[in-house]
Amino acid sequence: MTTDHDLDHDLDHDATYFLELQTKTGWGRALAKFAEWCALPPGTTAIDVGSGPGLLAKLLAENGVQAWGVDVDAGMLAQRLHPAMLHADTLHLPFAAGALDCALASNVLYLMEQPQPALNEMARVANRVALLNPSELMTMTAATTLADAAGLTGLARETLLNYAGRAERLARWDEADYARMFAAAGLALERTALSMGPGLVRMALGVRLNR
Ligand SMILES: C[S@@+](CC[C@H](N)C(=O)[O-])C[C@H]1O[C@@H](n2cnc3c(N)ncnc32)[C@H](O)[C@@H]1O
Repeated sequence: MTTDHDLDHDLDHDATYFLELQTKTGWGRALAKFAEWCALPPGTTAIDVGSGPGLLAKLLAENGVQAWGVDVDAGMLAQRLHPAMLHADTLHLPFAAGALDCALASNVLYLMEQPQPALNEMARVANRVALLNPSELMTMTAATTLADAAGLTGLARETLLNYAGRAERLARWDEADYARMFAAAGLALERTALSMGPGLVRMALGVRLNR
C-alpha cells in the first residue's frame, strides 16, 4: 500500500533540492526570521535537528551561537553549508540530558507519522525547544495567493506549492496543538508566532519544566 508519507519519501532525501531551497528561494529568509525570533544569546549552544544542508545552524553560528546541524541523511551532510554537522537520528540525539541550551527543528516534525517521540528526545537534550511547521492557515489556496502576490515563478513557486500540498496531507498545527505536544514532552509553551505572508507557518518556543 502506498501512503502519503511514501509519496514524499524521495523528496525528503533529495539533498540538491534542499540545498537549492535553502540558498535559492525565499525559504532562506524564513529560516533567518526563525533564527531571529528564537533570539538565542551569543555563547549558547544549539542543534538544528533535521537540518538538511545546515543553513539554520550557519545563521545561528553567525550570531555567536555554538550550533550544530543534525541530519539522518548522509547526502545532506555532504552538501553542507555549515562546518559543524552531525549524522544522527532525531530519535537518538548524541547528547547527554540537558546538555544543550536549545534544540530547533524546522519542517521536520510535521512530516512524521509520530512526532511526539522526536519532540521528547529534543526536550531530553535541551532546556528549550523551538519548532517551525506549517500553521493552521496553510492551504493550497493560501499558498497560491501568496505565490501570485509575490510574483513567484520556477523553483520558488514550485517549492511553496509543494510545501502547502504536503501540509494539507500531513499536519498543520495551531497554538493549542503545540501547547499539547509540548506539555506531553515536559515543556511549557513560552511563545508562538505566525510567519510567512499571512501566517502560513507557525513558530513555537517551549521551555523545559523541572530544569
Ligand atoms: C523538509 S526537510 C527540512 C530541512 C530544513 N530543516 C529546512 O527547514 O530547510 C526535513 C529534513 O529532516 C531530515 N530528517 C528526516 N527524518 C529525520 C530523522 N529521523 N532524524 C534526523 N533528520 C531527519 C531529512 O533528512 C531532511 O533533511
